[in-house]
Amino acid sequence: MPQPLLRTVVVLAAGEGKRMKSALPKVLHPLLGRTLLGHVLTAAEPLAADRTVVVVGHGADQVRAHLTEVAPQADAVLQAEQLGTGHAVRIALDAVADAAGTVVVINGDVPLLRPETVAALVEAHEGAGAAATVLAAEVPDPTGLGRIVRDAAGRLERIVEERDATAEQRAVREINAGIYAFDALRLRDALGKLSTDNDQGEEYLTDVFALLVSTGEPVAVHVAVDHTETLGCNDRVELAALRRLLRDRVNEGWMRTGVSILDPATTWIDVTVAVDRDAVIDQNTQLRGGSVVGAEAVVGPDVTLIDTVVGAGASVLRSHAVQAEVGPGASVGPYAYLRPAARLAERSKVGTFVEVKNSELGVGAKVPHLSYVGDATIGAKANIGAATIFVNYDGVNKHRTTVGEAAFVGCDTSLIAPVEVGAGAYVAAGSAISQDVPPGALGVTRAPQRSIEGWVARKRPGTASAAAAERAAAAAGGESISVDEGQTVEDAPGDAR
Ligand code: UD1
Ligand code: CA
Repeated sequence: MPQPLLRTVVVLAAGEGKRMKSALPKVLHPLLGRTLLGHVLTAAEPLAADRTVVVVGHGADQVRAHLTEVAPQADAVLQAEQLGTGHAVRIALDAVADAAGTVVVINGDVPLLRPETVAALVEAHEGAGAAATVLAAEVPDPTGLGRIVRDAAGRLERIVEERDATAEQRAVREINAGIYAFDALRLRDALGKLSTDNDQGEEYLTDVFALLVSTGEPVAVHVAVDHTETLGCNDRVELAALRRLLRDRVNEGWMRTGVSILDPATTWIDVTVAVDRDAVIDQNTQLRGGSVVGAEAVVGPDVTLIDTVVGAGASVLRSHAVQAEVGPGASVGPYAYLRPAARLAERSKVGTFVEVKNSELGVGAKVPHLSYVGDATIGAKANIGAATIFVNYDGVNKHRTTVGEAAFVGCDTSLIAPVEVGAGAYVAAGSAISQDVPPGALGVTRAPQRSIEGWVARKRPGTASAAAAERAAAAAGGESISVDEGQTVEDAPGDAR
């Protein structure tokens, strides 16, 4: 005989969440790095359930697809019509005929629930040998929630929905959080007896408690220490409130491990991010996805990092980065845009108004100003002058550019890929380079300069420029200013600082 399942987790996620007014099912709305459902599944993880069943209905295909991504071990069970939370659990248990021991039921819309709290609920329930235990909380505003109704001795009598409650019951501020532990066999038995005799004509899971009480089964209430954990999410205003609460919780957690967060109210860190000691996170900063910030790095103000790794001691200022790597001691911004596979080695620099995509910068390499670097490999200590464009796209294909170690590319240069600038080579400012520059050579494509004397006086008479030229000529002793034939190529390179 197969072993019976000793712990089953059932997550209720079939509802539409009408008040969200969204094409996305409510439980798939994101909240600092996970969906609402993802948060709930994470909170249940330490229970080490033998089976996890997620009841899906509205947007079932989307929810299923999400589960394959974040919780492939969970089984989706379809509740085609949403006939109530009791009906949902009944369908879930039909799919796990061998469930015995404890069944933990969690509403899919309580994302702030902590793993410790679910664990404590289950421990209290199993320790007391209860038939059913509900997680409750005292809340400042119980509007819309089910109330815990106790008898004179303080024992749970029933849970009553607000719409079915008397005025006296509505005054109760102790609410049902929508998280429960049940004894599987007694739950299955009670679910078979649920009626739909209530304001919504639904099968209420909460009625299981009154049913168990009526047959003398022991039921219990486990009160959550922090009531914010039990907050549900029914519309986008509540979602925003939950996001602020979670933001504060996450920020406090990092500050207690030795991270400086200068303005917690404007710092949004996904629960999936890691930050090392003595990192400084300045205001208006978002750290998202799998981002990692190393020790003593300074990030912000005004930075968004998505799946980006910032090394120890690096600095990122007023910039946006997606799937990038910033090496230890490197410096980025202000106003840089790092796109996927931008890899900046130790002590390299990407400065102001620079965009980098699918490119490596070697140790100490610098792209300080106004450049686009796409599909390039830049050697250690190379210097890329202002307004250099790595011309990577020919209209059909992308090509790579290689710049060797300690090469020097002058300002306003186009490097037309595929092309290679050798180690220690120079490129003259203003060049369009489409052929390889050998190591140590100077590449230059500039036309020699001509100055056409007297052009302004002839072509722009009466302008401020003409008047200024005339005054300059007079000051020079009546002679016109002599003008060079043009810069020699030997003088050509230029950098902006
Ligand atoms: C429920 C509780 C209420 C409690 C509150 C806590 C009941 C009858 N009431 O009310 O006492 O205070 O949660 O947040 O249980 N769902 C299904 N199938 C259904 C109906 C609901 O899967 O047929 C899912 C929803 O997607 C949601 C969860 O169950 O994740 C709770 O449903 P919801 O309609 O939000 O219940 P509440 O009215 O909030
Ligand atoms: Ca709800």
